[in-house]
Amino acid sequence: MTKVLLVGNGAREHAIAKAIVKSDEMPELFSYMKMQNPGIEEISTETMIGKYDDIDNIVAFAQSFSPDFAVIGPEEPLSYGVVDALESAGIPCVGPKKNLAMLESSKSFARELMAKYKIEGLPKFGVFRNVEDAKKFMDSLKEVVIKPDGLTGGKGVMVQGDHLMTKEEALEYCKEVLKSHPSVIVEEKLDGEEFSLQSFTDGQTILDCPPVQDHKRAHNDDTGPNTGGMGSYSAENHLLPFLKENHIREAHLITAKVADAIKKEIGEPYIGIMYGGFMLTKSGIKLIEYNARLGDPEAMNILSIMESDFVELCRAIVSMHLDDYSLQFEKKATVCKYIVPEGYPEKPVKGAIEISKASNSEVFYSSIERKDNKLYMSGSRAVAFVGKGKTIEEAERKAEEGAKSVKGKVFHREDIGTRKLIDKRINHVRSFS
Ligand code: GLY
Repeated sequence: MTKVLLVGNGAREHAIAKAIVKSDEMPELFSYMKMQNPGIEEISTETMIGKYDDIDNIVAFAQSFSPDFAVIGPEEPLSYGVVDALESAGIPCVGPKKNLAMLESSKSFARELMAKYKIEGLPKFGVFRNVEDAKKFMDSLKEVVIKPDGLTGGKGVMVQGDHLMTKEEALEYCKEVLKSHPSVIVEEKLDGEEFSLQSFTDGQTILDCPPVQDHKRAHNDDTGPNTGGMGSYSAENHLLPFLKENHIREAHLITAKVADAIKKEIGEPYIGIMYGGFMLTKSGIKLIEYNARLGDPEAMNILSIMESDFVELCRAIVSMHLDDYSLQFEKKATVCKYIVPEGYPEKPVKGAIEISKASNSEVFYSSIERKDNKLYMSGSRAVAFVGKGKTIEEAERKAEEGAKSVKGKVFHREDIGTRKLIDKRINHVRSFS
């Protein structure tokens, strides 16, 4: 009997959990979570609740049932070295070791790696340990983006013109960042459309999923504070309405070169997921950041249409046989919409929600607890709905129907996947190309 360890407790991991248990191998799923996720619990043989930095606990849990392999969902345990520890205990992992996971956990490492190996797609950037040097560099740029050098759950990046009105405000933010991080990254602000290209790799071969576009801002029309991601869509032709095939080839090439560079730099292959956050700009494809895991929400888009057997794919990754693996996806569009508590992300309320039966979309639980058969939000993104269809419009209608079925103190972005917002993206790209 195949046994799989899954680490993680969000909607991304709920999607991974569903993909694991629907494998033809009919595996048993064992889940290690920071907080109980009722959706994952329902389909797991056994669960354990614990911290992500308690590596000994994760290894002891794994050793109690000896999994065939482990899948690590979120970035935190990767950055603490969970893969190094599990592999030392003889458990292969879909996920990079700590040094390799620096691709996400250290933005300066990722930027300097690309600069050292002369990989295209880099914006102008500088890594600074003091504000004086940061200011000098900022003065040479028209508008800036400020990034803390470390993990921030997608919420630490501040963009001039969006979150920071002036260079003075940007400098103040650099000072704030330097109080809690070793360094701060200052980059030129780019104009373009972002997309996520999630790729599976065994260190040699890179297999891409269809691109997805996420929506980071909390409210309709890309307003409000940054969030972990309010929803996302993918298209039936496995492009995006503003992307052409050559753009995906360009992004793929950057990821392939980075995989090669990191292997040379660290001396070991990067195994797992390389999720490139790219931007199509007037000067081609630029790399905004790498993540060492699947995206949340983007994992839900791609796993909902994955035709390949996920467990078989994981086996090909850990045995380094991706070169003869054929990764297949349905030719369907997907739209994912997150339901979040009122006040999210700054002052989220907690409270009960009710979900009516939404048969046209798939439900994924995130920050949700189940008590006495009732669902309670615990403060972060609560539940996601994924609609699938022949077109983005059809998928959007299904996801929206699901999202609207939730009763409680919640909101969601009604505009994700709508014709109006997609036309805005297309027109944006036309304005500079
Ligand atoms: N969708 C943003 C992230 O997963 O980091």
